[in-house]
Amino acid sequence: MYTQGQAVMNRSFFPCQDTPAIKSTYTATVRVAEGFTAVMSANTNVKNPNLVDINGVNHQIYSFGLDVPIPSYLVALAVGDLQSARVGPRSHVWTESCMLEACKSELDGIVEDFISTGERLFGEYVWGNYDVLVMPPSFPFGGMENPCLTFVTPCIIVGDKSLTDVIIHEISHSWFGNLVTNANWSEFWLNEGFTMFAQRRITEELFGKPYACLEASTGQALLRQHIDNEGQDHPLTKLRVVIEPGVDPDDTYNETPYEKGFAFVSYLQNLVGDVKKFDDFLKSYVSKYKFKSLVAEDMFDYFLEYFPKMKEDKIDKKEGFEFTDTWLHKPGWPTYTPDLSAGKELTGPAEDLAKQWREGGQKVSDVDIGQWKTYQILHFLDQLLEGTDLSQVTMATLAKTYPKISGTTNAEIRLRWSLLTIKHDYVADFDNVKKFLVSQGKQKYTLPVYRQLVKGSDTAKKLAQDMYKETKDMLHVGVKDYVKGILDKANL
Ligand code: BES
Ligand code: ZN
Repeated sequence: MYTQGQAVMNRSFFPCQDTPAIKSTYTATVRVAEGFTAVMSANTNVKNPNLVDINGVNHQIYSFGLDVPIPSYLVALAVGDLQSARVGPRSHVWTESCMLEACKSELDGIVEDFISTGERLFGEYVWGNYDVLVMPPSFPFGGMENPCLTFVTPCIIVGDKSLTDVIIHEISHSWFGNLVTNANWSEFWLNEGFTMFAQRRITEELFGKPYACLEASTGQALLRQHIDNEGQDHPLTKLRVVIEPGVDPDDTYNETPYEKGFAFVSYLQNLVGDVKKFDDFLKSYVSKYKFKSLVAEDMFDYFLEYFPKMKEDKIDKKEGFEFTDTWLHKPGWPTYTPDLSAGKELTGPAEDLAKQWREGGQKVSDVDIGQWKTYQILHFLDQLLEGTDLSQVTMATLAKTYPKISGTTNAEIRLRWSLLTIKHDYVADFDNVKKFLVSQGKQKYTLPVYRQLVKGSDTAKKLAQDMYKETKDMLHVGVKDYVKGILDKANL
């Protein structure tokens, strides 16, 4: 059993003013039947040693507390047959026993580097412990930044630590989102855009600029796909989203707050022109707004106050880059995107190889992609996904040449390979698509696959219907409803 508060679900968990504009500390008393373990987004956890008989069943009583004020959406509870293992000086991983060893070896020794780098860049980690709960496969998100206890999809447990950027992301929310919080869900980009920036700064510090740029390139591809699909004028491609009364903020969820948000924060860094100076600004911004909630204008004001010369130069009104009129309110592709050329040594080979395959695949150079980083493979596949120009023969050769791609269990690779096979109606590999949809229920994987299927051939459409029937009772209810919506819209 688990709860998911963000964005507006915790009102059905406990009575509250369910808005991120206000914060409070909390305590909770949780009774669970003997044999189960309860965990919460809390920094104190006392398990009463005495069992209590309730209706003839022995119960364990837990007392939880969090002494740092948080918005309601960050309260979280999970109960299960959970075990834990230490993975760092202030960190444990929690999961069901069959997953414990794999989770421990994926995370052991790395989370502390992520946290301490975050502390050096953005200020003290105020939350006490940092634990990770690895969820069942139907968990709808990559990760959820519940304080002291990040919830993550089991898809990141791949055996080679290649998808731990999700952990860096959720740790980054310890400053952006959880300390400094969007005051309402129209300002969601303040949480996610700053977090993407912080995530990539930590990545850059630990793994170097080329790798950070490679990872950011895949982010840019996601934004590109989103804007191409929705159109340049779509209101959801605005940084500040208009959410009418009665609309569930989750229904506005898309890549814009993440990647356009990242582009804007990168733009601010570029204006400052000095990485260290901008890091110092971010640290000071966190210190000024910690334990508070804010809107974009508060951030603009503080930026201009911190850099008085820019205020004097009216940098926020610069034509084409106005903070409010352009960045916040204009839909479509941002007028500034960060320079990712420092990633060339990693992105270049992926782009070259994709080009050769798209040109027919006859003279493809003999590159050993076995040596590539997972994100290079993602970049390669993103390039292939830009077109629909691969022949059936090329698809078959691709599948045979790169078992590391066609036979993978790495969900990020598998998502893209699935999309590619559906897009090209390469039915020989539809079995893999089925298996992918059964193996996990993450929203960002499941919905794109269904959207592609309903656009495809009759075989693809049939597969969408069959897979929905087969998996609907395993999916998180939110994801299930969205899939149903996709099928309904396609009259399936
Ligand atoms: N807070 C989000 C997840 C979320 C957003 C839940 C909106 C409910 C409503 C989390 O921090 C997040 O962004 N997760 C990403 C991680 C990725 C960007 C590395 C995800 O789930 O894909
Ligand atoms: Zn996030």
